[in-house]
Amino acid sequence: MSFPIVRHRRLRQSTGMRNMVRETVLNVNDLIMPIFVTYGQGVKNEISSMPGIYHFSLDTLKAEVDEIVDLGIPAVLLFGIPETKDSVGTSGFVENGIVQEATRLIKKWYPHLLVVADTCLCEFTDHGHCGMVHTFEVDGQVHGDVMNDESLELLTKTAVSQAKAGADIIAPSNMMDGFVQAIRAGLDEAGFEHVPIMSYSVKYASAFYGPFREAADSAPQFGDRKTYQMDPANAREALREAETDVLEGADMLMVKPALAYMDVIRTLKDQFDLPLVAYNVSGEYSMVKAAAQQGWINEKAIVQEMLTGMKRAGADIIITYFAKDAAGWMQER
Ligand code: PBG
Repeated sequence: MSFPIVRHRRLRQSTGMRNMVRETVLNVNDLIMPIFVTYGQGVKNEISSMPGIYHFSLDTLKAEVDEIVDLGIPAVLLFGIPETKDSVGTSGFVENGIVQEATRLIKKWYPHLLVVADTCLCEFTDHGHCGMVHTFEVDGQVHGDVMNDESLELLTKTAVSQAKAGADIIAPSNMMDGFVQAIRAGLDEAGFEHVPIMSYSVKYASAFYGPFREAADSAPQFGDRKTYQMDPANAREALREAETDVLEGADMLMVKPALAYMDVIRTLKDQFDLPLVAYNVSGEYSMVKAAAQQGWINEKAIVQEMLTGMKRAGADIIITYFAKDAAGWMQER
């Protein structure tokens, strides 16, 4: 008679047994909720490609932040939609910029809630690139080069102004070379040596950012981001990017997007000992929402499986537009 020598199903036979042997458990402390802030009064506008995610003006922000705090989520990531844009992204680093104002308010309401500031120029520049550009015309068509070293000064200014407003963590997402070193030096010089840098170390030139660019009004007006964001085909290059950031003084590393890059999350987890962040980006959110609205998938089960997968792959922290939903489901448990 042949029968299984080893019986895996013994440990799967009841909820209690499965709970006991579970390897990966999502915790509310792992979550960061992104928020889009904008000017105006009484604004709470749903982003059409991201159902359930809104633009908030400063006077409607409190209710959203109250909810986030009630759910026990420890951190928010701020994105700003400014009133005006120019070629150098001035509205990103002025003292009364939208992100700076929102940061001050949130820190006044909830001193213990961590404010993470996304440090980039693309939401604040009229050309929509993440750095300064040198433009030229060829046959009536505008082209541009994103200038690395010239951009570092602007990004550093942006980071320092965010720290001044009270941001607890600076999260540079611009993918210029040397950005961690430049921002670290700028923060230290301004007296913010205690403010950590969560570096978007491994950020791919991804189509999964599509809905975000509608939300943040940050699509590049010409060209694309492929000269600074990484080629989705490359994994070994991710090691070089991450290593550089570690050498330059990053306190946390990030992989972005998450779903199509689980292997990269695992590799970074094995190779580096800094806390690792996965960004579950806008397109990943919208795909699930769209399918759920059609009744084709079970949203709650799918989201829990995705976030657990990211953690199992090695993420310590997850930035996700599902943070409030996930935290709510944890409370139900
Ligand atoms: C800014 C930035 C982007 C995202 C976060 N910070 C857009 C981009 O690089 O085009 C994308 C986030 C998302 O898709 O949810 N550079």
